[in-house]
Amino acid sequence: MLHGKRILLIVAGGIAAFKSAELIRLLRGRGASVRCVLTEAGAKFVTPLTLQALSEDRVYGDMFSLTDESEMGHIQLSRDADLLVVAPATADLLARMAGGLANDLAATVLLATDKPVLAAPAMNVRMWTHAATVANVETLKKRGITFVGPNDGAMACNEHGPGRMSEPAEIVAAIEAVLVRDRPLAGRRALVTSGPTREALDPVRFISNHSSGKQGHAIAAALAALGADVTLVSGPVAVPDPQGVKVMKIESADQMLAACLDAGALDIAVCAAAVADWKAARPAAGKIKKKAGAPPPALELAPNPDILATLSKAGPKRPALVVGFAAETENVVANAIEKRGRKGCDWIVANDVSPATGTFGGERNTVHLITAAGTEDWPPLGKGDVAMRLAGRIAGHLAEAVRKQAAE
Ligand code: CTP
Repeated sequence: MLHGKRILLIVAGGIAAFKSAELIRLLRGRGASVRCVLTEAGAKFVTPLTLQALSEDRVYGDMFSLTDESEMGHIQLSRDADLLVVAPATADLLARMAGGLANDLAATVLLATDKPVLAAPAMNVRMWTHAATVANVETLKKRGITFVGPNDGAMACNEHGPGRMSEPAEIVAAIEAVLVRDRPLAGRRALVTSGPTREALDPVRFISNHSSGKQGHAIAAALAALGADVTLVSGPVAVPDPQGVKVMKIESADQMLAACLDAGALDIAVCAAAVADWKAARPAAGKIKKKAGAPPPALELAPNPDILATLSKAGPKRPALVVGFAAETENVVANAIEKRGRKGCDWIVANDVSPATGTFGGERNTVHLITAAGTEDWPPLGKGDVAMRLAGRIAGHLAEAVRKQAAE
């Protein structure tokens, strides 16, 4: 749900700061990246090292650090995220936010940001119900800050009542609700193919390739995050199933094609799978055995069906938008333009998969989007960001088609 989303997590000084570790883990598991700001008081409860290890990013805390400022100024830090999450939001930090103070890095970033802010309060029950805090929360809500919690229950200070910080899973749900409010693909049906295929030579051996499925799975998650009803047809991969997506697991190209044709009426098809071009012409029913002195067996191959070309065929069932990938090691754009024509798809996402780029199995991708209008060169991006950008473009394209149709 949160693929490609960037969260700036501000951890203030409360005992609930220990829950921020689990929060980071959950967010990253959903594909979000997390960068942390730790207040001085927060650092009394959780160490920068813990947050750094879990977020795999540096932790910011010092407003006047020369290295932090030269690498990422506090203004950029406040804008370089999709959402700022304050967890725990202490009475003190809420008061400083309401008062517009900028007396440490956390308060400054919160004052400087142009991004949405979600706060998860955590404090003693009397502090939460104090008129000052009540007024501060009201002010912040009026300014558009979203709150999750606090919950009612036993507190670390041996009192009982509202003030317990929401559980990490509740905070994640609140984050998803804020970030995924915009669902331009609601009511659209999408198919995504992902991962490699496996073509059996005999019951124990197969032909396959290095595709990790990371890019295809991220695209399925991104389309779902924009509200599409997504079917993901995936070859064998190690990456987890994206949330909110119907996953059909297959092995061979023939099975992938059958699953795709079974998916029903579609608006969008994105073929990101690295389908094996060939299969064994006659896979052996039993394990092929070595025979002393005999030469290695000759492999007779047969072509696999082309799933992208099949889905791109004109007809009443053709999806409104068919997107293919072109994994190339040389002449990336020229080969991809040729491939777009040959396969009959609308768009091609071309990428260089030469071993030196680390694209196969890696986290980043440098792609070119080839459409009827020309070629766009995208900057190097994380695979989640490529997916979000592509899903956004798909949503924009379909919305434009609807506008044009209405105008005719
Ligand atoms: N594709 C497919 N079915 C196949 C082969 C490829 O659906 N049997 C799709 C891929 O999912 C991708 C696009 O076609 O979207 C291009 O895949 P690629 O492997 O780059 O192209 P090939 O057709 O295999 O061409 P070549 O090997 O000559 O580059």
